Amino acid sequence: MLTKEEFQKLISQGIPDKLPKPAAHDENINHAPIRKEILTKDEKILALKNALRYFPKKFHQELAPEFKQELDKYGRIYMYRFRPNYDITARDISWFPHKTPQAAAIMLMISNNLDYAVAQHPHELITYGGNGAVFQNWAQYLIAMKYLSEMTEEQTLAMYSGHPMGLFPSHKDAPRVVVTNGMMIPNYSKPDDWEKFNALGVTQYGQMTAGSFMYIGPQGIVHGTTITVLNAGRKIAKNNEGIEGKLFVTSGLGGMSGAQPKAANIAGVVSICAEINPKAAYKRHEQGWVDEVIENVDQVIDTAIDWQNKKEAHSIAFLGNIVDLWEKLAERNIKVDMGSDQTSLHNPWAGGYYPTGLSYEDSNDMMAKNPDLFKEKVQDSLRRQVTAINKLTAAGMYFFDYGNAFLLESSRAGAEIMAENGIDFRYPSYVQDIMGPMCFDYGFGPFRWVCTSSDPDDLELTDNIAMNVLEEIAATAPVEISQQMKDNIKWISEAKANKLVVGSQARILYADAEGRIKIAKAFNDAIKEGKLKAPVVLGRDHHDVSGTDSPFRETSNIYDGSQFTADMAIQNVIGDSFRGATWVSIHNGGGVGWGEVINGGFGMVLDGSEDSERRLKNMLHWDVNNGISRRSWARNEGAVFAIKRAMEQNPQLKITVPEFADDKLLNELF
Ligand SMILES: NC(=O)c1ccc[n+]([C@@H]2O[C@H](COP(=O)([O-])OP(=O)(O)OC[C@H]3O[C@@H](n4cnc5c(N)ncnc54)[C@H](O)[C@@H]3O)[C@@H](O)[C@H]2O)c1
Repeated sequence: MLTKEEFQKLISQGIPDKLPKPAAHDENINHAPIRKEILTKDEKILALKNALRYFPKKFHQELAPEFKQELDKYGRIYMYRFRPNYDITARDISWFPHKTPQAAAIMLMISNNLDYAVAQHPHELITYGGNGAVFQNWAQYLIAMKYLSEMTEEQTLAMYSGHPMGLFPSHKDAPRVVVTNGMMIPNYSKPDDWEKFNALGVTQYGQMTAGSFMYIGPQGIVHGTTITVLNAGRKIAKNNEGIEGKLFVTSGLGGMSGAQPKAANIAGVVSICAEINPKAAYKRHEQGWVDEVIENVDQVIDTAIDWQNKKEAHSIAFLGNIVDLWEKLAERNIKVDMGSDQTSLHNPWAGGYYPTGLSYEDSNDMMAKNPDLFKEKVQDSLRRQVTAINKLTAAGMYFFDYGNAFLLESSRAGAEIMAENGIDFRYPSYVQDIMGPMCFDYGFGPFRWVCTSSDPDDLELTDNIAMNVLEEIAATAPVEISQQMKDNIKWISEAKANKLVVGSQARILYADAEGRIKIAKAFNDAIKEGKLKAPVVLGRDHHDVSGTDSPFRETSNIYDGSQFTADMAIQNVIGDSFRGATWVSIHNGGGVGWGEVINGGFGMVLDGSEDSERRLKNMLHWDVNNGISRRSWARNEGAVFAIKRAMEQNPQLKITVPEFADDKLLNELF
């Protein structure tokens, strides 16, 4: 075990003076899929040159052939040899060498995103979603940590897609880090552009909370998923019947999708979640996120029916392909109440979706060696999946897209997924039906915090503080948001018992602007009074009211045409940066795929000071109301209500509110 002093020395040194020993490939670790060969010979030379620029010339002789081998074998240069031997994990903040606690808190958050217990492919610096990277290679990690260890509150670190460009002079109210990930000239934003430019080492796919250091394990998504499953259940429940005993079928037990069985249990339904990768399925089972793993598809279905009859919540992982499960359910005419899919279809050709009929290993082999045939297999599989789903929806199932580009990729595969008008999809996205009108339009979104003491007692105290604040607000909340308030209070009161923590001592809690600001202020007071032992990091998923422009997901319930613009996300990150965020990030890609979305987020360190109080009030207000104003301008009625209410609460807020034109008047003109 390393002492604190030894650890700090290693962080502060950055790239070591002496070459570390070459690293053996550890087969016990879940590795990123081999990326397809995409570079020409000249481009490979360029990729090597790009990699070697991180190291003194004296190392080049030894590193050049090794990096070439990595590029040939894995399709990327990860610089495995430079992966540190110490445990990368959210240690208590005092472990990270620093001149400002803001930088130490960022180091803690980076470390959490790379923790073995948290990250999907830790050796390839991928946190979730198959390609959601924190850094492109280990040199970037070492240099970024060194910069953070020496930065003052008069400096800002510029991060270009994982590359630490350097420390620039700034000022104490400026963000300490500004992150951009995957920002491309728009015409160079196709999936193969990512393959090529990522292989060259000049850009990366940051997903949402991977490249922005805000991932908090699957908990981050459990709350949103619970809200979705619960409200999907309420939507289909007839005559006020409960949702107990209803069956929810879906797929994916990965970084985010792994939240589904837990959320389904919390919502109180029976769930089956197909997962093709045994490592992912058993990891979630060991962590207690899914109740049991079954390999036989008929046995899976029979077990689910038993639990439905008992009307008890239970979650089953089907170790196999989701297509085989859907086809069996259709063949046996099983009544499925709710259905969805959370394979990584934002990344369909490089390991996000495994076609039926091929083993996991054969798929991994084919996607690298014969990508064209692999693509055919994926598309064929998607068509079969949709055919089975269509049969079950015809028999009454409520199916929704879960923000993974399932509908989009199925349509591109030629599956029967379009509505009769040929423009819309046959099924809604969960944002169109649930998350948008019920949460985002009113400003409710995935607010979160991390206790940098890394002490569970601090987390418990913050849970209690947050619950008290919400109860106080709920007492006078208008009827339009009373269900949301009730659900959120229930969530936070049960959060500890639901054992959601994986990695850092973090909590997610859907809240609106008023809730976020009041909770943050109460935390800051508790730090000032010494009740909390160390600073608290605030943040949120990019998947929020204002953070993300994504026409088939976060902004899929925007119907004025502006769902294909990205002004909101860019406005948001710029606005956050000068209102007091400790770090900001803006990404191309995240959730639904490279080129399909622009999304941003922030981190804010509360240290109990007056500066923190000023910043939290100023920034959180903008961070939510920016999105509500845009949603209101798109004529979303909940958002019009919410922005008018926000203006009443703060006379400095003056928003342009839409007039509603009469459809009859317009239709008569044509
Ligand atoms: N709805 C949301 O709020 C939300 C949030 C986060 C992520 N997402 C999207 O959901 C998707 C999943 O995210 P993730 O982080 O869990 O990704 P992930 O890659 O970690 O997990 C996906 C899992 O699906 C499995 N899988 C792939 N094809 C399969 C098949 N045919 N049958 C069975 N299992 C299969 C993979 O083995 C993997 O474990 C992504 O596209 C992501 O962008 C949605």
